[in-house]
Amino acid sequence: MKKLFVKTYGCQMNVYDSARMVDLLAPLGYRPVETADGADMVILNTCDIREKAAEKIYSELGRLKKLKEARAKSGGAMTIAVAGCVAQAEGAEMLARQSAVDLVVGPQSYHRLPEMIAKLAREGGHALETDFPAESKFDALPEQESGAGPAAFLTVQEGCDKFCTFCVVPYTRGSEYSRPVDSVIAEAATLAAKGAREITLLGQNVNAYRGAGPDGEPWTLARLIEALAHVKGLRRLRYMTSHPRDMSDDLIAAHRDIEALMPYLHLPIQSGSDRVLQAMNRQHSVDDYLRTIERVRTARPDIALSSDFIVGFPGETDADFEATLSVVRKVGYAQSYSFKYSARPGTPAAAAPKQIPDDVKDARLQALQSLLVAQQGTFNATCAGRVLSVLFEKPGRKAGQALGRTPYLQPVHVDGAAQLIGQIADVRIEEIQPNSLKGVLLREKALVH
Ligand code: 5AD
Ligand code: SF4
Repeated sequence: MKKLFVKTYGCQMNVYDSARMVDLLAPLGYRPVETADGADMVILNTCDIREKAAEKIYSELGRLKKLKEARAKSGGAMTIAVAGCVAQAEGAEMLARQSAVDLVVGPQSYHRLPEMIAKLAREGGHALETDFPAESKFDALPEQESGAGPAAFLTVQEGCDKFCTFCVVPYTRGSEYSRPVDSVIAEAATLAAKGAREITLLGQNVNAYRGAGPDGEPWTLARLIEALAHVKGLRRLRYMTSHPRDMSDDLIAAHRDIEALMPYLHLPIQSGSDRVLQAMNRQHSVDDYLRTIERVRTARPDIALSSDFIVGFPGETDADFEATLSVVRKVGYAQSYSFKYSARPGTPAAAAPKQIPDDVKDARLQALQSLLVAQQGTFNATCAGRVLSVLFEKPGRKAGQALGRTPYLQPVHVDGAAQLIGQIADVRIEEIQPNSLKGVLLREKALVH
C-alpha cells in the first residue's frame, strides 16, 4: 500500500475533485492518509480565487520540500503534485520556481494523473498537464467511492462564460461544460446505492446547466433535478452555485413542485449598487435580483437564502457600499459569504483605476459581516421550537451525538442519534448557538424516515 495525502483548498468543486483523485489513484495502490509526513504522494488541490493564493501554495511547498528531503534520506520517496486552479494559472512556472514539485495538473486534466505518474516512474523528470482536453474527464473517471457519504457532491457543470471582471474562474476552469444527463443520473444512482440520501449538484454556474438529455435535447437544471428526484434512495437535492441571470422559470417552479429539492438557494449578488454591478459585468441589476428573489419566495415561502458579497471593488464609494447593506436588509439572508476584493492577475478589474485601500475594505467587510451574522441569528431563531427533518451525516463531538443538517442547511447536534447516521429523522430544535443548532430526537419510530 502507498500513502496518499490530499490537501484541498477552496470550493466544494475542489472537494469533489479531490475525492475523485483519490478514487483514480486507488487502483494504483494509493490509500488516503491524514498527514503529509511519510506520504508517498502529496497532492495540493489548490484554489486561486483570492489574495496570495499562489504565495500560500509556494510556502506550503517549501514545507513539503523538507519532508520530501527527510523521506529521501531515509530511503523513501515522496511525489509532490499540485492540482487545481493555482496549478492551472501557474503552469510551468510552478515547476521552475519550486524544484520539489514533480507534477502539475489543471482541474480539467486530472483524469490523466495515472498516466502522468507512470510517465514519471518511467522517465523521471516532471509532468505538466494544463490543457482543456476536448474529451470529458468525467468519462475517464472511475465510480465515486471516497466522497460517497450520506450527503454527497456531484459535479454536473464546470467552467463559466460570464466573465465577471473580478473572477479568475473563466480562465482557470475554462468555458461552460455540462455533463450529459445519463452520466449524471448513473453517478447519482451509484451514490444512492452506496448510502447517499442527499446530493448537492455542483457547478461554477450550475443553473446554466444544459446537459444533453437521452432524448437528444439539452436539458435544463430543473429537468435534471426532476429526474434525479426519482432516483431510488435519494431524498434530498441541492445545487450550487447559481447566477441570477440563469434563475429560469422552470427552476423557480421546481422549488415549489419538487419535494426533494431543499428550501435553500445560494444566489450571489456580489454588490447592491447598480454602478458596481455594471463594472463587475454581472449582467443583472439590483432590481432584477430582487424580483428574482421575490419570485423564488412566492414559489417557496420558507426558502433560506444565501449570497456572496465582495466589498471594496475598484471605485466602490461609501454610497455604493451603503446600497449593498440596504439590499441585505431588504432580502434577509439565512447565511452568506463576504470577501474583500482581491485583484487577481489577468482579470480586467485588477487593472482598473481607483483600487480601494485595505483599511477601507476592512471597515466595510466588518460592517457587512456584522449585519450578515445578525441576520443568520435571526433566521436560526425562527427555527427554535420547530420540528425539522435532519439528515445525520457524521458523529458529533460527544459520544453518542450525531451531526446532521436541516433542510435549510443548518448544522444540528443531536444527542443519542449516533445510530441514525445516514438516515433522516425528525428533530425538535431546542437551542440556537452561534454556528449551529441543538435539537432532540423525536423518539417515535415512525418519525425516522
Ligand atoms: N476578490 C474577492 N472575492 C472574489 N470572489 C471571486 N473573485 C473574487 C475576487 N477577485 C468571490 C465571489 C464569488 C466567490 C466564490 O468568491 O463573491 O462568488
Ligand atoms: Fe477556487 Fe474557483 Fe477554483 Fe473553486 S473554481 S477552486 S473557488 S478558483
